Amino acid sequence: MTSPIAVVGAGLVGAGWAIVFARAGHDVRLYDGDEKIRATALDGIRANLEGLQSFDLINDAGAVADRIAVHGDLASAVAGVSYVQESVFETIPVKHEVTQQLDEACSSETVIGSSSSGIPASAFTENLKGRSRCLIAHPVNPPYLVPLVELVPAPWTHSGVIDSTFELMESVGQSPIRIDREVEGFVLNRLQGALLNEAWALFEEGYASAGDIDKTVSEGLGLRWSFMGPFQTIDLNAPGGVSDYAARLSPLYHAVAESRTDPQRWSDALVACVEHERRQHVSAEGLKDRREWRDRRLMALAAHKAKASKKLGD
Ligand SMILES: NC(=O)c1ccc[n+]([C@@H]2O[C@H](COP(=O)([O-])OP(=O)(O)OC[C@H]3O[C@@H](n4cnc5c(N)ncnc54)[C@H](O)[C@@H]3O)[C@@H](O)[C@H]2O)c1
Repeated sequence: MTSPIAVVGAGLVGAGWAIVFARAGHDVRLYDGDEKIRATALDGIRANLEGLQSFDLINDAGAVADRIAVHGDLASAVAGVSYVQESVFETIPVKHEVTQQLDEACSSETVIGSSSSGIPASAFTENLKGRSRCLIAHPVNPPYLVPLVELVPAPWTHSGVIDSTFELMESVGQSPIRIDREVEGFVLNRLQGALLNEAWALFEEGYASAGDIDKTVSEGLGLRWSFMGPFQTIDLNAPGGVSDYAARLSPLYHAVAESRTDPQRWSDALVACVEHERRQHVSAEGLKDRREWRDRRLMALAAHKAKASKKLGD
């Protein structure tokens, strides 16, 4: 018997979380402070569930949607739930206000996870009575298609809270990782940042177009990265494994790192150049359709990965 879950904030990420929990059989109470968002949230969720069904990723979109109820009152949304996934705006004042409301409204047993992309839990939970039940549970967008969740404790988060959230995330089909202590950007956005900063720099210095830099990932690095990470990759790229790779190539990577000791901001002029190149391929009005295309590609990839894992193992 699965217990109900509350999702607070029904924007892009909150609506995605509602799908994750409802797909796994939980009743979901979805709350948002904005009436317009509440009125339309279920329509978007139903469309995404239809997409999942069309790729055989769920059996019954209607049954999953029926488990999601939109609430206009925070206290009723969180009554009796064991877990709340907070997914409101990414600012410290809003996170603080909402987490304080949650701390007061929830039973003392309820765990409060935040979708925060970069603000650590210590920045908005320090003065709360129930601060030891708060943690970051940072998803990737959209969470029902990209399963990674970064679990990050504040210094006062109870270790049992990390353990129970890890179990919950695995039980709903997500792939949680534990980050042992707070670090800006957590792990995912630090890795993404390293790649992005290098991509902007290479473009700015005129080594390649934005399109060719993108292609380096979509037709190169990204193919392996969709099923294994950087350490697994290099372990297979030298006959003697990771130590052999390090012996052969660490001087190259060290030289590359030394050439970037003075990180630059992404200047307005630089951003405008990449914006110009991107808009030749997708118009500003076409971005919404392109996001839907991305989600369909992710659905196809999720279906392929499930099949390949069964046949070939992970
Ligand atoms: N979009 C992404 O790619 C992504 C990925 C991972 C994590 N996140 C994180 O998830 C969180 C939500 O991001 P999003 O992209 O869904 O934003 P969003 O703007 O789409 O949704 C935020 C929702 O929170 C609601 N909200 C704001 N203040 C509120 C309040 N006081 N009470 C109740 N509801 C309130 C808003 O009405 C809105 O619907 C942020 O912390 C963000 O950093 C986003």
